[in-house]
Amino acid sequence: MRDRARDADSTAPGEIVGLGPGERELRDAVLAGLSTAQKQIPCKFLYDDRGAELFEAICDVDEYYPTRTEIGLLARHCDEIAAALEPGLAIVDLGSGSARKLDELLAGLCRPAAYAPIDICRESLRAAAHRAASRHPGLHVVPVCADYTEPLELPDVFPEAPRLLFFPGSTIGNFRPGEARRFLSRLGELAGPRGALLIGVDTTKDPQILEAAYDDRKGVTAAFNLNVLARLNRELGADFDLGAFSHRAVYNAARACVEMHLVSKRAQRARVAGASFSFREGETIHTENSFKYAPRHFARLARAAGWAPARCFIDDQGLFSVHLLRFAERAAPS
Ligand code: AVI
Repeated sequence: MRDRARDADSTAPGEIVGLGPGERELRDAVLAGLSTAQKQIPCKFLYDDRGAELFEAICDVDEYYPTRTEIGLLARHCDEIAAALEPGLAIVDLGSGSARKLDELLAGLCRPAAYAPIDICRESLRAAAHRAASRHPGLHVVPVCADYTEPLELPDVFPEAPRLLFFPGSTIGNFRPGEARRFLSRLGELAGPRGALLIGVDTTKDPQILEAAYDDRKGVTAAFNLNVLARLNRELGADFDLGAFSHRAVYNAARACVEMHLVSKRAQRARVAGASFSFREGETIHTENSFKYAPRHFARLARAAGWAPARCFIDDQGLFSVHLLRFAERAAPS
């Protein structure tokens, strides 16, 4: 199978497999989230096509250090990472909006058997698959449209290749710590016995740096946050007045978490999918958590989820970390 993968047409990615989350899921989650005391919208709904575009733009703003710092770490350490891994890996890229990071990783890796980008957003997935196929001739690209936060089975196109799960960008920080641990355990099952996980994790640091990263001067993060209301207006026939909400990013030190909120500028009502919701002036909709981890705290979380930390790379300023973990099959007692 590995040979067949190498012989495959190197510039044409395979067909997208699977369905993205449907309108019903969006409606049910939003109606439930707006009915709780602290109103909330799950952060995965920030990523419609426009949201994915805005997130790409966030990665380039000066204040948002994670992307460039992680790319720098991967570029600097790609040979050491490759040396710690088996050749002929199948790379499973969880949330494929990480094309630039893939280039850095592939610069070190020896003849990967296949590349399976997984993304909830078809547009991002298509773009990532085409980019990978055209920039890395000979790489067998198998794009999978799926919500990787749900249990997931990969198409069986490279059964013998050991799996390297690639989860950059500190997306793990968008899970609550308990969910993160359960998710990491599931990734162990997905990785399999010879599997490894290369994961980017944002570190705890000066709150000013963190808050600036989530509230940039150009207002790109604000537009990203507000876009979720535009999505609800379009997809659920909601009538949010976007001018009547503002973006807020605040570091909650007790939770080691940057929280994003949409703040109601005045008392108002909004209709969503036939239901009506009232907002007090200053009341917020919580739209995202971004948890931060000191490297040793993340290593502890990973161990509790059944992973054995192998290497950890941190930049000189301690802004970001990249952990290489091996699947250890049995969770250590926590
Ligand atoms: C995708 N995720 C890791 C980003 C983060 O940093 O939590 C999403 C983001 N939200 C605002 N800026 C970036």
